[in-house]
Amino acid sequence: MLSAELQVASYPEGGVGPQHFSVVKVEVPDGADGLAEGEVLVRNTWTSVDPGLRLRLRAAAPEGYFSAFPLGAPMDGILTVGEVVASRAAGFTTGDTVWHSLGWREHSVVRASDEAMNGIGTLRQLELHGNEPQWFLGALGPMGLTAYAGLAVARALRGGEVLWVSAGAGAVGSLVAQMARLLGHHVIASTGSQEKVRWLQDTLGVDAFSYRDEEPGAALKRLAPDGIDVYFDNVGGDHLEAALDAMRMRGRIALCGSVSDYESEPRGPSNVFLATAKNLTLSGFRGSLYLDLLPEMQARVGRWLQEGHLVCPETVYDGLATAPQALADMLRGRTRGKTLVRL
Ligand SMILES: NC(=O)c1ccc[n+]([C@@H]2O[C@H](COP(=O)([O-])OP(=O)(O)OC[C@H]3O[C@@H](n4cnc5c(N)ncnc54)[C@H](OP(=O)(O)O)[C@@H]3O)[C@@H](O)[C@H]2O)c1
Repeated sequence: MLSAELQVASYPEGGVGPQHFSVVKVEVPDGADGLAEGEVLVRNTWTSVDPGLRLRLRAAAPEGYFSAFPLGAPMDGILTVGEVVASRAAGFTTGDTVWHSLGWREHSVVRASDEAMNGIGTLRQLELHGNEPQWFLGALGPMGLTAYAGLAVARALRGGEVLWVSAGAGAVGSLVAQMARLLGHHVIASTGSQEKVRWLQDTLGVDAFSYRDEEPGAALKRLAPDGIDVYFDNVGGDHLEAALDAMRMRGRIALCGSVSDYESEPRGPSNVFLATAKNLTLSGFRGSLYLDLLPEMQARVGRWLQEGHLVCPETVYDGLATAPQALADMLRGRTRGKTLVRL
C-alpha cells in the first residue's frame, strides 16, 4: 500500500519552512507477509516536533550530536508513537502501543533489535496506565527525561533554592518549571510574550517574565534580588550571559540547549570568567544519555499527573503535511508546551 512520508528537499539558510520539505508517497507492506523476520509495521498516530531537528537540517550536524538528515530521504530520529498493525518480531503484537524513532511518516517498518538515538528511540512497548499516548512524547518521554536529567546534573532534585528556566513555556521548560516547583524551589520562568507569562503564573504557578519586554538581567534583579542558585538553560546567548551575572557562589547551570543560535549566528556570553570567580558548575547534558533515569522519572511524573499536580501542555497540528509549519512556528515561539503532530 502507499503511505506518506516527509523528506528533506533542501537545507534551510536561516528560517526553516514547508518549502524545505516534500511529502512523498512510498510503498509499505500491507501486513506481516511483507515484513522480514524481526520487523514490525507501525501505523503512526503522533509525532514529535523538536528544536534539535533544526540542528540536523544542514549538511553537517554539530560534532558529537545526532547525524544530519540526508536530502531526499525520510528523517530518521524523531520520536513517534503508534500502533502495531503487523509484527514478525518476538514480543510485539498487533494492537500494541509503541514508540520508535522513524518519525515524520504515516507508517514505519521498524527493526525491533535496532538501537536508535542512544537507546531512547529504540522500539518500545508503552504501558499507558490511563495516560494519553502522546504524553510519551512529552512529560512521560524524552521531554520529561531531559527536564529530570537536567535537574539531576545541576544537583537540583532536592528543592529549596532559586531556579531560573528559560524557554519556560516550551516542552522541556514547562516541565522543568513544574517539576522544580513541586520539588520546592522558587521558580522563575522566562518566555517570549505576556500571554505566556500569564499562563506560566496562573496555570503553572511560577514567577515569570517576558524577555521581549524586559532584559533578562533586569528581570532577575527584580524577581531574585539575592541571586539565583540554578539556571536551566534552553536558550544560550544573552540569557546565559544574564544567568552568569545573576548566579550566587557555587551555583549550577544545566546547559540543555541554545535555541537562540539554531537559526542565526551564535553569540556567546562575554562574562565566562564569572564561572571561575563564583566557583560555578556548568554541565552540558543530553537527556538520551540518562536512560537509566527514565523509570524513576516516569514513576514520579506519572504520580504527579494522576494526582493533578502536573499538566502536559501541548500544541497540536493535524496531518503529516503540517509538520514543517509546526517546526517553524515552534522555533518562532508561536506554540506552547509540547509541539505535536497528530497523524
Ligand atoms: N539536551 C537535551 O537532551 C535536549 C532534549 C530536548 C530539547 N533540548 C533543548 O531544549 C530547548 C527547548 O526545547 P523544546 O523541545 O522544549 O522546545 P520549545 O521550548 O517547546 O520550543 C522552543 C522555544 O524556544 C523559544 N525561543 C526561540 N528562539 C528564542 C530566542 N532567540 N530567545 C529566547 N527564546 C527563544 C521559543 O519560545 P518563546 O515564546 O519563549 O520565545 C520557542 O517556542 C532547546 O534548546 C532544545 O534544543 C535539549
